[in-house]
Parts: sequence; C-alpha cells; structure tokens
Amino acid sequence: MIDNYSEAKTLINKAIEAQRFSYSPYSKFSVGAALITKTNKIFTGCNIESSSFGATICAERTAIFKALSEGENNFKSIAIVGSFRGKNIEKFCFPCGICRQVLSEFCDKENFSIILFDGNDYKIIKLNDLMPFGFTL
Ligand code: THU
Repeated sequence: MIDNYSEAKTLINKAIEAQRFSYSPYSKFSVGAALITKTNKIFTGCNIESSSFGATICAERTAIFKALSEGENNFKSIAIVGSFRGKNIEKFCFPCGICRQVLSEFCDKENFSIILFDGNDYKIIKLNDLMPFGFTL
C-alpha cells in the first residue's frame, strides 16, 4: 500500500497523463486513473462514455479491467484525478459506488490505498474506509 506522498506523486502524474485519452463528450469531465501492482507495474485508465449513457465506463474500472485481463491481480494502490475538459484539477475525484464495489472485490481492503489529488493537496485513503461493506455472494 502506498502511504506517502513521495511515492504517490509518480502515480498521480500517471493519472493526470491518462486524462488526456478520456472520451467524455457528454459530461466533458475527464478522469484519469493509475493502478500499481505489488510488483510495481502501472496500468492507467480513463473514462470512456457512450451515447447509451449506462454503457459508460469509469477510469478506475478501465485501469483495473486492463490489469485483470492481463493476469495481474495483486494491487497496491490507485491514483485518481478528475477535471472538466480544459480546466485545472480543482477538487478531489472520489471513486463512484460501482468502482468502489469492483475495487473491493479485487483488492485487499486493509492494504490497498486510494490516492486523490485536488490540484494542490492530496489525500491517501484506505479502501476499507471508503467501502467497508461491499456486496459479496
Ligand atoms: N467517472 C469516472 O471515470 N470515475 C468515477 O469514479 C466517477 C465518474 C466518469 C464517468 C463519466 O464519464 C464522468 O466521470 C461523469 O460522471
């Protein structure tokens, strides 16, 4: 789990780079995520919207599905940033409920951190604090 700013910074920068590929013509809100595995491989993701709005995928799920589909399933942390297209990052972009559910299914809730950046300051939150009671079958 990343729990300090010097390590978190690299991941935040990767998330900011990933925002560039956001396809968000409807909301105009670009989200970027960077997920790091326990072996230090980084998978990035962006949000990709659909005109059938429910088919939209968030940046966090793009990143984790990319990793899972390549056989990676041991994760350390994810950085997430969001901002309106052409604007600076102005506030923390917390993961939505669906992404919290997916993260809670594939990440160790006590040892996985979510790194947020508001353009100025950062927050590092343990997954268990964001999603203490995820659904399980
Ligand atoms: N979005 C994400 O990519 N991640 C989140 O956790 C919240 C929302 C995207 C979905 C949609 O493309 C846009 O942000 C506005 O909701």
